[in-house]
Amino acid sequence: MTQVSITLNGRTVAADVPARTSLADFIRDHQALTGTHLGCEHGVCGACTILIDGKPSRSCITLAAAADGSEVRTIEGFDDDPLMGVLRRWMNEKHGVQCGFCTPGMMIMARDIVARLPDADRSRIRLELTGNLCRCTGYVGIVDAIEAALKERRTAR
Ligand code: FES
Ligand code: FES
Repeated sequence: MTQVSITLNGRTVAADVPARTSLADFIRDHQALTGTHLGCEHGVCGACTILIDGKPSRSCITLAAAADGSEVRTIEGFDDDPLMGVLRRWMNEKHGVQCGFCTPGMMIMARDIVARLPDADRSRIRLELTGNLCRCTGYVGIVDAIEAALKERRTAR
């Protein structure tokens, strides 16, 4: 067993877990935060995307022990986040959600794009989303939503 302690959505949490426990399992099974979804479990689909020390990361291929001491933010940590609020509104408006399975990881990646690349165009948005797979929407609504959020932010500058 390994003692893991992380800051999770602003709160310090700790648990003794088997050394091979993934960060995704630590979050879902040990902390009961099931907004982080598991699809492929080998780093391909992006459903498990969370922020580790501010950077989008695959929680399925990150060992919980490797994240010891890190700041982790999951989709549940964005409830009151103004930028996530803007994205939620546009995802709804532009029909960027169908079954919702990819959505938590997609939203975290979308927020990162809007925050990091204020001048991103559609092709850059698509490039940035290549690590997040969606089996329902065909991506058009998701790209539209991110583009609309970027435009709204630019207008407000
Ligand atoms: S579940 Fe982690 S990348 Fe697919
Ligand atoms: S909305 Fe179903 S996988 Fe993206």
